[in-house]
Amino acid sequence: MKVLIVGSGGREHAIAWKLGKNKNIEKIYCAPGNGGTALEEKCENINKTSIEDLVGFAKENKIDLTVVGPEVPLIEGIVDQFKKEGLKIFGPDSKAALLEGSKIYSKKFMNKYGIPTAKYEEFEDYDKAYNYLKTCEYPVVIKADGLAAGKGVVICKDYDEGVSTIKSFMIEDIFKGSGKKIIVEEFLEGVEASILSITDGNTIIPFISAKDHKQILDGSRGPNTGGMGVIAPNPYVTEEVLKQFDKSILKPTLQGIKEEHMDYKGFIFFGIMITAKGVYLLEYNVRMGDPETQAVLTLMQSDLYEIMESTLKGELINEKVLWKNKKACAVVMASSGYPGSYSKGFKIGLDENIEGKVFIAGAELKGSELITSGGRVLTLVTLGETIEDARKSCYEEINKIKFENRYYRRDIGIAK
Ligand code: AMP
Ligand code: GLY
Repeated sequence: MKVLIVGSGGREHAIAWKLGKNKNIEKIYCAPGNGGTALEEKCENINKTSIEDLVGFAKENKIDLTVVGPEVPLIEGIVDQFKKEGLKIFGPDSKAALLEGSKIYSKKFMNKYGIPTAKYEEFEDYDKAYNYLKTCEYPVVIKADGLAAGKGVVICKDYDEGVSTIKSFMIEDIFKGSGKKIIVEEFLEGVEASILSITDGNTIIPFISAKDHKQILDGSRGPNTGGMGVIAPNPYVTEEVLKQFDKSILKPTLQGIKEEHMDYKGFIFFGIMITAKGVYLLEYNVRMGDPETQAVLTLMQSDLYEIMESTLKGELINEKVLWKNKKACAVVMASSGYPGSYSKGFKIGLDENIEGKVFIAGAELKGSELITSGGRVLTLVTLGETIEDARKSCYEEINKIKFENRYYRRDIGIAK
């Protein structure tokens, strides 16, 4: 079988690595992939990114299954296009992808199906938003309706910050349309958890929980990033939290997917907030998380391809996803300066004896050398009997990875 993976991050490297373990898969094309997928067994990078080119490639090369990593092509309708051409693809169609593509759509969906979420107001008119901000208690959370490359959520500590945020979103239009409509949301206090899951539209199977560390600096300070490290399972996701999640978030989401007649066979990721008042849903993502995927797939015992096949056949109900009896720690190594500007082009030195798996994100293969090319460069994942064991070995092994300008958080797994 031949598989095509769309995307270029650490998440896509992890998907390629995990799918490569299936004996029936002989070839994995990564579009465009990165320096890590270039080196991975069975993998070949192809330099194609437009939906049209990907459809053409899948047809010409008789691809058996296409898997989409990031949200943008899903929201742009890659699944709809592939299906129209009779090609097999894993992911939600563009309508279902609105659960991530539009904050207003997803909040309406949550309210319609009785899913606990922060209270919010939506605005299209700047003056109305401006007047509303005068009446709010702070902090409030302001969110651009559409995709904004992870920069569309601002926690505003006071009225002045609120006004400058809506000005930049709605008037200066910094997100080129995505912030013309906004929501202003109640701030929830608590601990976050990522629950990556898989669904065939009739069943949702949650994967092992994960805890991302979004901010750039130790102590969870500084600006938000795509994610600087993960531990899995998330120690705050207790049996009780899982019970609440299942009853008040997972089941009503499934009911909504059915009642809205969504064509959803793919990954679904719940970003939840565990608060003193219970478990709230912050957001849906219609894809897996990065770097959550790197940790979660390293812990997965089951064959990912077989689970995906069952999903596409609508037979997920018969599947049981099995996990290694271990804990994972994943630390992201970034280029110093990220998420702002940073320099790149440095050679990565990787010791051959690293105990753990290195998933590449922002590095390309030049000749036989890996050269940094992005903000988040790679993720190192280690396993242990306990989170503390996994953490300890991650921070030991990370010393075996060297490149100029490297930066990583030292408190993954400790910070709240
Ligand atoms: P989102 O894209 O909606 O998950 O927002 C990005 C990040 O902003 C989340 O991971 C949270 O850390 C934070 N956030 C979003 N909404 C809220 C909220 N209502 N209260 C507190 N923090 C929030
Ligand atoms: N790490 C969070 C995300 O992928 O959205």
